Amino acid sequence: MKLAVVGGGSTYTPELIDGFARLRDTLPVEELVLVDPAADRLELVGGLARRIFAKQGHPGRIVTTSDLDAGVAGADAVLLQLRVGGQAARNQDETWPLECGCVGQETTGAGGLAKALRTVPVVLDIAERVRRTNPDAWIIDFTNPVGIVTRALLQAGHKAVGLCNVAIGFQRKFAALLDVTPSEVHLDHVGLNHLTWELGVRLGGPDGEDVLPKLLAEHGERIAGDLRMPRQIIDRLGVVPSYYLRYFYAHDEVVRELGTKPSRAAEVAAMEKELLEMYGDPALDEKPALLGKRGGAFYSEAAVDLASSLLGGGGSAVQVVNTYNKGTLPFLPDDAVIEVQARVDGTGATPLAVPELDPLFAGLIGHVTAYEDLALDAALRGGRDRVFKALLANPLVGQFEYAEALTDKLIAHNREHLAWA
Ligand code: G6P
Ligand code: MN
Repeated sequence: MKLAVVGGGSTYTPELIDGFARLRDTLPVEELVLVDPAADRLELVGGLARRIFAKQGHPGRIVTTSDLDAGVAGADAVLLQLRVGGQAARNQDETWPLECGCVGQETTGAGGLAKALRTVPVVLDIAERVRRTNPDAWIIDFTNPVGIVTRALLQAGHKAVGLCNVAIGFQRKFAALLDVTPSEVHLDHVGLNHLTWELGVRLGGPDGEDVLPKLLAEHGERIAGDLRMPRQIIDRLGVVPSYYLRYFYAHDEVVRELGTKPSRAAEVAAMEKELLEMYGDPALDEKPALLGKRGGAFYSEAAVDLASSLLGGGGSAVQVVNTYNKGTLPFLPDDAVIEVQARVDGTGATPLAVPELDPLFAGLIGHVTAYEDLALDAALRGGRDRVFKALLANPLVGQFEYAEALTDKLIAHNREHLAWA
């Protein structure tokens, strides 16, 4: 089995390698190609990746290359984990929206739109090149904004599934609180990527007993604290929102907070510098603890599980992924991309049925889906007016005056990445 990771020079990669090494029975990788245009990073990351495989006795071969076409040729699955414009572009996404009092974040709000506009054309080009060499290859997209990027891939007819680590993070956290193994915990996880709620926490299977009320009664304080939301929000909702809902439920508070500290991009850039220095140490042969401070915890586990099921191996039968709605949430178009539990096998992902949703959640999901629709249109066809409409439709912008001003800022800050601007 051959896998390729595009954006393989990412400082996240050792997390993935560690997962491939530990879970080699689930996913027997013979060749792993790390593809990245940044040759210097790739060398450092590739070196550590080989040492991790060697230490853990993994027989697979790790290849590094800056040649995309050669790297993906013949791969059974291609993982996308790239970031167009790197942390510098992310830093801008997190900064200029604040000038209008709107949240600055790389996947939601105006910053998320900027990222979508930079990313969709690049990802579609990569996917097209993958398809040319191997039309059967699965594309696993971890590149943000995952909902919009996955929809772009599916609409272009690619064999793609979108992946995020929010659900697996909750699964692990709840399993620890309940003192059970993670595979016993099934989440009634519903929504769009980075806009989800855990409506139930079931033991033993997707139809098992719902222990969420018990979990909230016993550990509500801890769960709310980790999300940095008041306990009251969780008690009033009766469900667990993902931490991305904080940008909605506590928008103004977050904006005030963001104005007083360095951006997450700046924090991550400093961490990346330190990580790359560590990766260059030939004595290092495991993923360093510092990597745990990045947001991608358990990403490797989720990616291995997904790749394994898509490639006919022994991954979990039901996983939380991003895929076409196809009637699952009846108030959304069939071709909206949703993030829910799905049955995953060699034919792809099929969402499990979701009970009727409370308007409290359905309303926001519908609103953000409309934004994603307009965002994808802007990413594919460009143009100031399309950017403006997407911003106006985004609940974190919404006002005419801000949408106008942020359109100009978005274009000014991203001109080098936008072919049409
Ligand atoms: C979480 C999200 C990812 C996001 C990451 C950012 O893992 O699910 O979609 O890319 O956080 O982490 P970072 O360490 O770069 O802030
Ligand atoms: Mn994510």
